Amino acid sequence: MTRAIVIEDLSFTYPDGTEALKGVGLCAAEGERLGLVGPNGAGKSTLLLHLNGLLRGTGRVEIGGVEVTDGNLDEVRSKVGLVFQDPDDQLFMPTVFDDMAFGPLNMDLAREEVERRVEDALREVDMLYATDRSSHHLSFGERKRVCIATVLSMGPKVLAFDEPTANLDPRHRRQTIELLRRLNLTTVVATHDLDAVLDLCTRVVLLDEGRVVVDGPTEEVLTDQPLLESHNLELPLSRQS
Ligand SMILES: Nc1ncnc2c1ncn2[C@@H]1O[C@H](COP(=O)(O)OP(=O)(O)OP(=O)(O)O)[C@@H](O)[C@H]1O
Ligand SMILES: [Mg+2]
Repeated sequence: MTRAIVIEDLSFTYPDGTEALKGVGLCAAEGERLGLVGPNGAGKSTLLLHLNGLLRGTGRVEIGGVEVTDGNLDEVRSKVGLVFQDPDDQLFMPTVFDDMAFGPLNMDLAREEVERRVEDALREVDMLYATDRSSHHLSFGERKRVCIATVLSMGPKVLAFDEPTANLDPRHRRQTIELLRRLNLTTVVATHDLDAVLDLCTRVVLLDEGRVVVDGPTEEVLTDQPLLESHNLELPLSRQS
C-alpha cells in the first residue's frame, strides 16, 4: 500500500525552548483517515504544521513519497490542505471571496475556474451566503467552515484538519464529518471530538507531551478508559454508559 504520509523521528522545539515534539513517528496509507488525539499542549497542532512545511523540525516528513525540504515547499503546500485550529490564522483578506480565491489564483487558474471552485467549496460547507462578507464579521463556526472551504478549493491530495468540528453547531458538525467521509482523501484530524474520530477514522494516534503514546485501531484506543483517562481524555460520549 502506498504511504501518503510518513513521519520519522520528528522533533521540534519552539524558539522559546518549548520542546513540542520529541521523536514522533507515524504514517498514513493513501486514503486513510487518521485521528490525532491528546490533551491540550500534547503537540497535535505543532505536528500538523509540519505536514505542509510551515514548521520544520529535525527528522523526516514525507508526503506522497516526497520528502519535505526547503526546496519543495510550494509543491508540498499544493498537495496538503491544512485547516488551522484558529480561523484567524487562515483568513486575512477583505472578503470571504478574496480569501477563497487566494489559493486558486496562486495556482494560475483561469478566473472562471477560480470562481467555480470558490462557489463549489462554499456550497459544500453551507457558506455561499457569505461570499461577499468580511470574514472578520462572521461567527467562529462560520469562519471555521470558510477555512475548510478555502482548503477544498485547492483540490489537495492530503487533508490536515485541526479541530474541524470545534464550535460547529450540531448540523454543521455532522455535515463536516460527512464531507470528510465523502472526500475520501488521506486525512489527519486533530481533535478533542472523539465521537467524530469514531465516525471517521480507522486509526488513532494518541499524542502526549510531544510523544506518540499509542497508535492503534480506533475501536481499541477509544474504548480503553484507563488509557484515555491517564491522558486527560474521556470515553467518547457514544461509549459512555
Ligand atoms: N508559538 C509557540 N511558541 C512556544 N510554544 C508553543 C507555541 N505554540 C505551541 N507551543 C507549545 O507547544 C506545545 C504543543 O502545543 P500544541 O499547540 O501543538 O498542542 P495541541 O496538542 O495542539 O493542544 P490543544 O489541544 O490545546 O490544541 C505546548 O506546550 C504549547 O504550549
Ligand atoms: Mg491544537
